[in-house]
Amino acid sequence: MFLTYPITSPIFLFLTYPNPLQDNPAYSVVKQYFVHDDDTVPQKVYFESDEVNACIVTCGGLCPGLNTVIREIVCGLNYMYGVKRVLGIDGGYRGFYAKNTIALTPKSVNDIHKRGGTVLGTSRGGHDTSKIVDSIQDRGINQVYIIGGDGTQKGASVIFEEIRRRGLKVAVVGIPKTIDNDIPIIDKSFGFDTAVEEAQRAINAAHVESESIENGIGFVKLMGRYSGFIAMHATLASRDVDCCLIPESPFYLEGPGGLFEYIEKRLKENGHMVIVAAEGAGQELLSDSMHSMAKEDASGNKLLKDVGLWISQKIKDHFAKQNRMTINLKYIDPTYMIRAIPSIASDNVYCTLLAQSSVHGAMAGYTGITVGLVNGRHSYIPFHRITEKRNKVVITDRMWARLLSSTNQPSFLSAKDVIEDKKEEEPPLQLLDDEVCSGDNNLVNKQN
Ligand code: F6P
Repeated sequence: MFLTYPITSPIFLFLTYPNPLQDNPAYSVVKQYFVHDDDTVPQKVYFESDEVNACIVTCGGLCPGLNTVIREIVCGLNYMYGVKRVLGIDGGYRGFYAKNTIALTPKSVNDIHKRGGTVLGTSRGGHDTSKIVDSIQDRGINQVYIIGGDGTQKGASVIFEEIRRRGLKVAVVGIPKTIDNDIPIIDKSFGFDTAVEEAQRAINAAHVESESIENGIGFVKLMGRYSGFIAMHATLASRDVDCCLIPESPFYLEGPGGLFEYIEKRLKENGHMVIVAAEGAGQELLSDSMHSMAKEDASGNKLLKDVGLWISQKIKDHFAKQNRMTINLKYIDPTYMIRAIPSIASDNVYCTLLAQSSVHGAMAGYTGITVGLVNGRHSYIPFHRITEKRNKVVITDRMWARLLSSTNQPSFLSAKDVIEDKKEEEPPLQLLDDEVCSGDNNLVNKQN
């Protein structure tokens, strides 16, 4: 199930240093517990604490929990392994060669988990791998912790390859991040729960506004460029939403079975309604006049047109033209507010486990890996497995069916569309064990 690339072959790996965790009072009590057959507790570590010179970098868009991960890497290295030298890279990948580093200590990071954003700053794309590895080499860095989304993890993979090409003994470990929760293989990405929680406030506001006025419509636009997980979960959690629009589910406005018809029906039944749209929903419907000049951002992500504003205007125009019903539409766009906040308690715990998992992995000598929960188990995953595709809401799955039955919205699909959609579904994922459990180079990780 667990997969990794140790820095050197296991022979060298096991001729290294005793694991300081064995003498750590916090972990000594764990010895009394049962250790599962699938678990391995490293007796040895690859790095001696004194020789570790670690660095942490955050890249891409913000996500609740970034500061918690930074804090817990610094504290985990220090408290569990006695590592004193940890550097922060300022402003994303380019900071490796374009800026000064920031010294990170348990004291300096003590309170940062209470703040949104990242204390290290961030940036997108446009970096030079060779210069980054020069900087790692020149500074004598031997553990690199990289927190970021799929673009960042792709960058981490290239950095790892370059480090390997130069024969450097440097562990490169990724901690995947995105509020969109669309990273494959892992159970969930950190920050997602916080974003869904914060989205409730916008939905509540939309509900209060809409029910306070005749034929009120509250329209909320949420993040979700390619995947509608935030919108779907926020809708299911709220129960006040009458219609949820996501990128994976095509819809149309006019005619029988369309959005306008449903709005009219809902307003006649209830007098008000709430619509939630993920930002990537209905992009194919938007007119050419709204095309952005640039097609992609610096990370290579598709730049979207504002579907919230567009549909809101279309709804207003439609009902004005019909002259049958006067509607009152309030548009709420909390886009950045749901990710620029500190993480909630459950995300804080998750961030802590991910950070500690990354520290254990790097100390044990694993490299070229990203950490994550897989079926509830803390796992080390090669970079390429989490960057080769994106998770999407499967609209022929039960979760979307639950949503449809909660909102009572039309599926906007004909029977033919459902068959087509099923055909396009990917074959079930191969079990990770099939591929990796047989190799000598694979180690398993026991997490506490
Ligand atoms: O990838 C996460 C995400 O939150 C997307 O949902 C959103 O489209 C994107 O980031 C926006 O980020 P930025 O405006 O920083 O490019």
